Amino acid sequence: MGLPGVWRYGLPYHRRVRVMERLEWLYAIGEGPGANRIGYSAEEDAAHDLARMWMVEAGLEVEVDVAGNLFGHAHGSETGTGRVWTGSHLDTVPEGGKFDGALGVVAAIEAVERVGRGSVVVFRDEERGCAGSRARVTSGELPGAFLELHIEQGPRLADAGAPLGIVTGIAGVMRGSIVVAGREGHAGTTPMGVRDDALVKAAREILRIEEAARTIEDAVATVGQVEVEPGAVNVIPAGVTLSVDARAPDVERCDRLLAAIGFEPTYRIDPSKMAPELRDLLRAELEGRGLPVVELTSGAGHDAGVLATAGVPSAMLFVRSLNGGISHSPDELSSEEDVELAVDVLAAALARL
Ligand code: GLV
Ligand code: MN
Ligand code: MN
Repeated sequence: MGLPGVWRYGLPYHRRVRVMERLEWLYAIGEGPGANRIGYSAEEDAAHDLARMWMVEAGLEVEVDVAGNLFGHAHGSETGTGRVWTGSHLDTVPEGGKFDGALGVVAAIEAVERVGRGSVVVFRDEERGCAGSRARVTSGELPGAFLELHIEQGPRLADAGAPLGIVTGIAGVMRGSIVVAGREGHAGTTPMGVRDDALVKAAREILRIEEAARTIEDAVATVGQVEVEPGAVNVIPAGVTLSVDARAPDVERCDRLLAAIGFEPTYRIDPSKMAPELRDLLRAELEGRGLPVVELTSGAGHDAGVLATAGVPSAMLFVRSLNGGISHSPDELSSEEDVELAVDVLAAALARL
């Protein structure tokens, strides 16, 4: 039971509560159910305004780049490649949870304030394709290292009984669409035998895509959006566009998956490896606290992958997800104890960089 002024895991009680309270403030933005802060929306702007206020309160020097990414620099800390960034994103998927992205931002503000060095970064529009971090790596100064704290979004840490985990690498992500054509017709007068129904054909495509991913170890593929033309209850569908999101842990499997599904990605981020020296640093922090060291790959995409691919040594600290590891859902959950431990490890790692 915590009381004001009592220290646990290196954080005074009021700061521990502050991290969780800030997640609630962010979650309260916009209409429910769940978090709805789509990239570059008024809701994402409002979240950035809150983070900016917390950065000012923490005595950080605020900066916004041309893509709208927000920075909070500790005063007097190094610049350019001497600088260490830590942070994540504040946008969410539709009806998202409380922790994805937001935890990495509030934890970063806490950690940078505490150690008085480094910069907090809040990247724009991560969920729809890392727009903010991708813009930054093509046209802006980059740091010497990047640390991203994030929830695991899966069950592996909970299964291993480990509060925290160290990411070894991030899966490659390929996105695009498949268009299926058919022939429009009257739903009441066209006999079944002469129909060319695009949606029925698209349904078979979805099953084929699922099967293709199942044949490649650790590959996944998802059809998350279906657009039907003309989209009327009494018209046989003439055309369907399926979104495809396909992922695999290495380039060879990414290429095989693309070939098996058969689509041209309009968006591709290659798999990335986290920097060995930063992973060692995190491992030393976990070992020093007597915590189990679990290393795992990330199936979810992250801004850390974009920075790593651009040559910035990057690392990720995962926090155990509860509720079976569910994420991109209002049921996303991590415990206050794990969160405070993660903030403590992040701050310690930042201090040693
Ligand atoms: C982001 O959460 C992604 O992996 O799609
Ligand atoms: Mn995220
Ligand atoms: Mn996400």
